[in-house]
Amino acid sequence: MPPSSDAPVLAAGVDELAAEVAEGLTRPAKRLPSKYLYDALGSQLFEAICELPWYRITRGERALLARERATITAPLGNRASVIELGGGNGEKLAILIEALVERGARVETHLVDISPTALDLSARTLGGYPRVSIRCHAAAYLEGLGEAVREVDGDHPCLALFLGSNIGNLGPAESNRFLRAIRSRLRRGDMLLLGADLVKSEEDLILAYDDPLGVTAAFNANLLVRLNRELDADFDLAEFDYRAVWNAGASRVETYLVSRSEQTVCLPRAGCCIRLAAGEAIWTESSHKYERAEIADLGERAGFARREQWVEPESKFALTLFDVR
Ligand code: AVI
Repeated sequence: MPPSSDAPVLAAGVDELAAEVAEGLTRPAKRLPSKYLYDALGSQLFEAICELPWYRITRGERALLARERATITAPLGNRASVIELGGGNGEKLAILIEALVERGARVETHLVDISPTALDLSARTLGGYPRVSIRCHAAAYLEGLGEAVREVDGDHPCLALFLGSNIGNLGPAESNRFLRAIRSRLRRGDMLLLGADLVKSEEDLILAYDDPLGVTAAFNANLLVRLNRELDADFDLAEFDYRAVWNAGASRVETYLVSRSEQTVCLPRAGCCIRLAAGEAIWTESSHKYERAEIADLGERAGFARREQWVEPESKFALTLFDVR
């Protein structure tokens, strides 16, 4: 997501940042909310991650969308409304739009993102297609989705997209709540296309989240740069290592910034100073990996009915299409 749009939830004001950071860093097991990884530089670094040979989510999903675009868009008929939650640069949505345009459909797209920069970028990617209208909703996902559905012109089915395995950055309870909230905003006959990364070998997962070029390490360290800038914190970057761990029991990659020494860090605008022991870790993100059936189950527990699922074998990435019945 360009400035931040592939992120599942996006940053709000400095007060909220200060409160959430203070809360996370004063817990016995320190953590920072992953949504704050996506400032302007963080979003650029995430775009770079998507191009890394070891990070295969984006390429796998693109390939799958291109392969299945006709099947995915078939139920939409000739008047199609597509709503994308956090669409990044609009490239993935463009694959589906092209399929619709090629068969002569009139398309109404709704782009939902809290970041106006992300919306701009997406809207520019999609701007050139004939018979496609674009409506931007600068709002949090659920609020924007509600707005978009209310604005849909006609009672034909809508397709909502939540791609990129952004669902994986939410915990199990949170992802269930989020999908239920999506379900409650859609109407009978609408659909949800959910992108989710599958479990693969530990070696592949660690390479994807601790790449040899150090881009993912920089993406994480940039969170400390952000806290230094926005909260006047005094994190010394040289005093932290980056680590990615596969937690097989919880089926997630966990990423950490690990203190190299015993140190005290002050964050004046968050109203706290914290002590870190040598080797103490700050949890920055979790990225859940799923079995195929689990994804269907996740949707069904949120009230959707599974219509179809496709897997890209090289990247081991799944797209699942759900119906609202
Ligand atoms: C945005 N999200 C789906 C990415 C992921 O794979 O969990 C964020 C990311 N973090 C490190 N690399 C990519």
